[in-house]
Amino acid sequence: MLVGYLIIAGAAAVVSLAGGHGFDAHLRGPSFLIEPPSRIEFSNSSGAWLDCAASGSPAPNIDWSTADGLPAGDVPGVRRVLRNGTLVLLPFQAAAFRQDVHSAAYRCVASNSVGRILSRDVQVRAIVTQAYTVDVEVVEGVSRGCTSILRCVVPSHVKDLVRVVSWLQEPAFHIYPSLQGDGKFHLLPTGELLIHSLEFSDQFLSYRCRTMHRLTRQVVVSSSANIRIAEHRGVIPPTILEHSGIIYVGQDESTSLVCVAKACPTPEYRWYAQTGAEQMPVLSGPRTRLLGPVLAIEAVTLSDSGVYQCLASNHGGETSAELRLVVMAPLSVEVSPSLLSVHLGGNAEFTCIVSTHSQAGQHFITWYKDGRQLPGAGRQSETLTLNGIGREDRGMYQCVVRRGDDTAQASAELQLGDAPPVLLYSFIEQTLQPGPAVSLKCSAAGNPTPQVSWTLDGFPLPTITRFVIGQHVTVHGDVISHVNISQVMVEDGGEYSCIAENRAGKVVHSARLNVYGLPYIRVIPKVTAVAGETLRLKCPVAGYPIEEIKWERSGRELPDNLRQKVLSDGTLVVSSVQKELDTGTYTCWARNKQGHSARRSGDVTVIVPPIIEPFNFQEGLSEGMRTRTVCGVRAGDEPLTISWLKDGHSPFQLSPKALSDTSISPIDSFSSLLSLSNLAAEHSGDYTCVAANPAAEVRYTAKLQVKGN
Ligand SMILES: *[C@@H]1O[C@H](CO)[C@@H](O)[C@H](O)[C@H]1NC(C)=O
Ligand SMILES: *[C@@H]1O[C@H](CO)[C@@H](O)[C@H](O)[C@H]1NC(C)=O
Ligand SMILES: *[C@@H]1O[C@H](CO)[C@@H](O)[C@H](O)[C@H]1NC(C)=O
Repeated sequence: MLVGYLIIAGAAAVVSLAGGHGFDAHLRGPSFLIEPPSRIEFSNSSGAWLDCAASGSPAPNIDWSTADGLPAGDVPGVRRVLRNGTLVLLPFQAAAFRQDVHSAAYRCVASNSVGRILSRDVQVRAIVTQAYTVDVEVVEGVSRGCTSILRCVVPSHVKDLVRVVSWLQEPAFHIYPSLQGDGKFHLLPTGELLIHSLEFSDQFLSYRCRTMHRLTRQVVVSSSANIRIAEHRGVIPPTILEHSGIIYVGQDESTSLVCVAKACPTPEYRWYAQTGAEQMPVLSGPRTRLLGPVLAIEAVTLSDSGVYQCLASNHGGETSAELRLVVMAPLSVEVSPSLLSVHLGGNAEFTCIVSTHSQAGQHFITWYKDGRQLPGAGRQSETLTLNGIGREDRGMYQCVVRRGDDTAQASAELQLGDAPPVLLYSFIEQTLQPGPAVSLKCSAAGNPTPQVSWTLDGFPLPTITRFVIGQHVTVHGDVISHVNISQVMVEDGGEYSCIAENRAGKVVHSARLNVYGLPYIRVIPKVTAVAGETLRLKCPVAGYPIEEIKWERSGRELPDNLRQKVLSDGTLVVSSVQKELDTGTYTCWARNKQGHSARRSGDVTVIVPPIIEPFNFQEGLSEGMRTRTVCGVRAGDEPLTISWLKDGHSPFQLSPKALSDTSISPIDSFSSLLSLSNLAAEHSGDYTCVAANPAAEVRYTAKLQVKGN
């Protein structure tokens, strides 16, 4: 950064130059853009795709695991994970069915350097396509004028995958399911065909049912059957043949409850519901339609959940059946806050907000950190409290909620706030004879992880092979730095400092290493002082013990004026450095008790920091106008560099169009012209001129306001 110069004065200047340390690139933990569904069924012939995608910075990796946490990678010919994160279950032969692959629960895992999150569980069920046949069963014993019931009998092993799509009255009359039927025919949503007002001639017609497999779309048609009309004309009291049982339906969906009774004459149906404390008759309403054996409810709400009773009656008697409607509120989870920044040692609290409904069943909360379940009691609760936050607590926290087979999750990120460095360990003063190896160690904690540098009497360490600097960062993010001197020599003595620094601050530790021997003064590198600041120049004396250290300049012992001071450790302090008076050669001299001495000279140059002349923008600028301003550096040594920032950014963060209307041109080596044409609203903001020379970097900011038209 400052080639050929060394700054040992002007702490302010050093800090502003350290501005080059910028903030870390903005890091964000993963969050799902596409989360796979809770369940998927597929046929062995189609195979299945499960998409999963997540955003974050850096871009997250997507992996898959089983619900037990075992990695679910490629299995040749069976399962593949695509580069974009999609999990593919390939079509397979029945013999290649694998329980662990084809009937399993999976999770998508998104991870980046910030942390890891898990998706909800995905219940995967592969169905091996099997041939099946369906038959028609005609309910016997119905006489003229009554209702005949035809059922389509599907083998139980495919019953939940096969539905009746239509009935065919041969040769070519199709009857489709409807809620209310067309008078003569009524194909119920559950697949039964009702034929009302039987006449003698109905016996000559034959019927087939047509079914479709939900996954394979395979259509299977039954053999044909005829209705037979019973001879007797007696009354048959109702008996329930079929009803919907327990119906699970998602909130806001439509549903129909079905209850079919055999009876003659055709029964009347009445419906009762017990959704609260007492049973009430169900009446037709805007969302509710009573259609004989069908009770249709549109846009169900959680309050529709309950026990329903259908009552079928004719003058021969009555009967009833109980049905249950369970409305499933979508399980949704949120963690609050979604991003929390906590200082080292502070406390954090996350709350899991579950929106569900008590009637939907009990749910269980589990907390995860970076994809691992957090141990310990009390984690089952809605709040997660973390005390005494350490570096290892950073990452992604997830609340996973289970309700039956369903899971839902939400995640939040815990970031560490900035913390200035703290020294965990530092070296102590040592006095020794030349020869042995010496190791000096400093370790520091802070956020971000501090950088550690070393100096000897305020100058960089000698760059010779006997000196080795080693540094590493522990898993906890603490930095450990060593200076190892393989064979310590007299000239290595002096005051060693380790400096731990991050954007939140800086900490310095210094201690002496005394090596017995005659006085020795190391080379004094070229020193640059900043005009107006305080110069501290330590005489780099080695040898031990030392009796006396002195400074002189042009043959006169210092201090020579009131701005100068020589401290007992041999540091020369010059306050309010002035260019003309303080530039020059300084000599330091050290002596031991026996009268042995050493001396060495070094040059000090003084650099005047830049001073920017205040500038501003005109007022009353509106869109389409032009304006300009000049940043001029009134004082300060060259070489000077002048640059511009808009709202703190360089290059300017403007759209290409606005950028093309912005020009920066040097006028001479200490002025820069910023010119803006075709002004637009987005040109408004803070413009900062940055002037730097080897002594310091200074800034001046002016505000530009462009009014819309
Ligand atoms: C799926 O299984 C059925 C029944 O075993 C078989 O006939 C079919 O070929 C299988 N599909 C594939 C793609 O192998
Ligand atoms: C991944 O790529 C496949 C095809 O290559 C595509 O079908 C799938 O939708 C992609 N997944 C995502 C998450 O974009
Ligand atoms: C320095 O010495 C210490 C203590 O002997 C050792 O642990 C460390 O690895 C050494 N470091 C280097 C860079 O040699």
